[in-house]
Amino acid sequence: MSLQYLIFPVMIAFCLQALLVMATDLPDRNSAQSCLRPYLNRGPEEQTQVPWEHCIGRVEDKQALSLLKKGQYQEAAWTLDEGNTQTTQEQAELILWFLETLMRDAAVGDSDISKLGMGGATKPMSVILPLGVHGVFKKKRLFHPSSSYRSEIAAYRLDRLFRFRLVPMTIKRHIAGHKGSLQYFIRGAKTASHIHGYRKSPNLNVFDYLIRNRDRNSDNILITKGREIAIDHGLCLRRFSILGCCLAYTDQIKKSLGVWSHPVRQHVLHPSTHIREFVASGHILRKMERILYHDLHHELSDLISKHQIAEIEYRKTRLLDYLYKAGFLRKFSGM
Ligand SMILES: Nc1ncnc2c1ncn2[C@@H]1O[C@H](COP(=O)(O)OP(=O)(O)OP(=O)(O)O)[C@@H](O)[C@H]1O
Ligand SMILES: [Mg+2]
Repeated sequence: MSLQYLIFPVMIAFCLQALLVMATDLPDRNSAQSCLRPYLNRGPEEQTQVPWEHCIGRVEDKQALSLLKKGQYQEAAWTLDEGNTQTTQEQAELILWFLETLMRDAAVGDSDISKLGMGGATKPMSVILPLGVHGVFKKKRLFHPSSSYRSEIAAYRLDRLFRFRLVPMTIKRHIAGHKGSLQYFIRGAKTASHIHGYRKSPNLNVFDYLIRNRDRNSDNILITKGREIAIDHGLCLRRFSILGCCLAYTDQIKKSLGVWSHPVRQHVLHPSTHIREFVASGHILRKMERILYHDLHHELSDLISKHQIAEIEYRKTRLLDYLYKAGFLRKFSGM
């Protein structure tokens, strides 16, 4: 038999094996979920280490791995998602699935709830969850001028839809007999009020523009390891927000008098005058071109009204138009 007849089968076998290795490197969603599931039921006091690499495959990014080991699941998922490969994004999805299941299903007793101790007009509560995860619970309040737990959750879902990676996971939950929003607590973060000369990123400007945020003061932005994190969205995405209107009017009056008390909120920018400050990351702009009303409706219709959803769509289209006109985007460049 000539050599050529031997080389081909060997090469094919080699390629198949290489493909198999690559395929086993990718986490298979179902088996990864069944591998992780037993670790969801550990009590807050148990010091269990979740065998992440065993369940979701090799984590190449050292920072993400170290965050996972410290129980900083949301931060690890953001880091991996930014890796922008299919594997890192699937790993990020699995971590978020784990975190969401844990935040939604973990038993919370009276001793796990306490006052947050960081101020807050809505009296947020601190909640201890398993595996060192902590949450911030804001209960539903009837007629409260500054908070809607639904807006908190809708802001998170929008963040996920457009992949802003700014808002920590926020879900619907019943705790101590109250309906409300439970948000993942970012450990060790400072508020932007501690960062001299801080300015919002274009991604955060776009996010705030879409949700019509009138309360982005520097205590509602957290900074950790150079990452910007957006919290406190109870005032956004609401048809009537008495406090939001008051804040907008008092800010206007202060501006005309030249008196400022909120160094970050004073920089509420509009794309008609500051379009450069709205040139968000490419992947967000592409999502903005592709996501349409029915996608928004699918994600948000259990939380906010059709009117509010249409307003997000309107603001998104308007912002894209400003960007096209200023030459920062070519029409339908992402299609
Ligand atoms: N997810 C979080 N991770 C880390 N810290 C948080 C988180 N949520 C809230 N905090 C801390 O608690 C403070 C108050 O929270 P938040 O602003 O959401 O409450 P609020 O009652 O709506 O506040 P405000 O007084 O601004 O109306 C924040 O400034 C921040 O320091
Ligand atoms: Mg606040």
